[in-house]
Amino acid sequence: MTRMLVTGGAGFIGANFVHHTVENHPEYEVCVLDALTYAGDRNTLSSVADQVEFVHGDICDTEVVDRLVERADVIVHFAAESHVDNSLHNPEPFIRSNIIGTFTLLEALRKHGGRFHHISTDEVFGDLPLQGTEKFTEETPYDPSSPYSASKAGSDMLVRAWARSFGVAATISNCANNYGSFQHVEKFIPRQITNLLGDARPKLYGAGENVREWTHVDDHNAAVHLILSQGKLGETYLIGSGDERSNKEIMELLLGLMGLEPDAYDHVSDRPGHDLRYSNDSTKIRTELGWQPIYGDLREGLAATIEWYRENGWWWQPQKAATEAKYQVLGR
Ligand code: NAD
Ligand code: DAU
Repeated sequence: MTRMLVTGGAGFIGANFVHHTVENHPEYEVCVLDALTYAGDRNTLSSVADQVEFVHGDICDTEVVDRLVERADVIVHFAAESHVDNSLHNPEPFIRSNIIGTFTLLEALRKHGGRFHHISTDEVFGDLPLQGTEKFTEETPYDPSSPYSASKAGSDMLVRAWARSFGVAATISNCANNYGSFQHVEKFIPRQITNLLGDARPKLYGAGENVREWTHVDDHNAAVHLILSQGKLGETYLIGSGDERSNKEIMELLLGLMGLEPDAYDHVSDRPGHDLRYSNDSTKIRTELGWQPIYGDLREGLAATIEWYRENGWWWQPQKAATEAKYQVLGR
């Protein structure tokens, strides 16, 4: 058995990764390290609780990290503060968890060895013009816009430096926007779905022209497994479905799928510094590792996601009021 440590395994992508690993990769013995911040929920792992060890702890805690890294063969690092709007309100936890937390893991890896996969984001590259076909590649220079993306860029740079200077066996992936089950209701798609399920009006930032490349969380996690089994140490891989949509398009799709008029939403004030468009060129992972998204039809993926939120109010309802209270402070 290969011993795998998953940081942030009680969050959206990490928990889906743990489910995917338990279901499809019996060669791994999984341990999750998660601080259970507002974004982490142990209930997300309840169906696999017997198959996974759970450690409630912080990636900035040297003692815990050292102990867990020492007994792991592979570390998959999802833990992070992940929401741009929160980072604009209070950047401090982003610097702490995303930079100091990654540093703490890297120091333990330097001491004990082990293979490290660092989960990052396309936001480290900044943004692209709204019109046009330009894409980010593995060579695009970093140009982050928000405290969130700056902290993720910082963490990527640490990983690269620890790989080059200390020989830490690391890979990095930068994925586009994810959607799917167990995503916190602060994020765009689940916020709108749960507003509608609760008879509140959805909220579109600004004119809704900003473009995101939507990738199903299971496609992201399948890519991470490919990198773990076949990726080259020291390399970076960009992941993205290729399906780019404006926020307005997504809003109209969700409203249509939920049987409502396409204009049944409110415009709210725009996000400061709002990145215009993200788009990843994922040729490298497709050609070198043979990755392909399975969720080809975004409309179908969104319909399944709506169904999931409809049936799993037990999971998201406890987050909803506090999330909307935070948005009220931001005026969004
Ligand atoms: P999330 O906010 O849903 O979950 C983050 C998890 O990390 C939570 O369980 C939280 O409790 C845990 N955590 C936070 N700080 C911690 C700390 N100091 N110690 C231990 N645990 C801590 O995030 P997500 O959307 O699942 O994102 C996971 C990773 O994927 C992040 O690194 C993010 O930058 C990256 N990413 C996200 C997306 C996306 O669309 N959501 C896209 C590309 C990359
Ligand atoms: O690109 C990858 C990134 O995708 C990840 O690194 C981040 O962790 C993840 O949160 C996501 O960042 P975004 O800022 O793109 O995602 P968010 O869901 O917050 O917003 C998506 C778009 O929708 C963005 O243009 C802002 C807009 N938006 C968001 C909310 C919450 C709205 O119009 N209304 C809303 O209520």
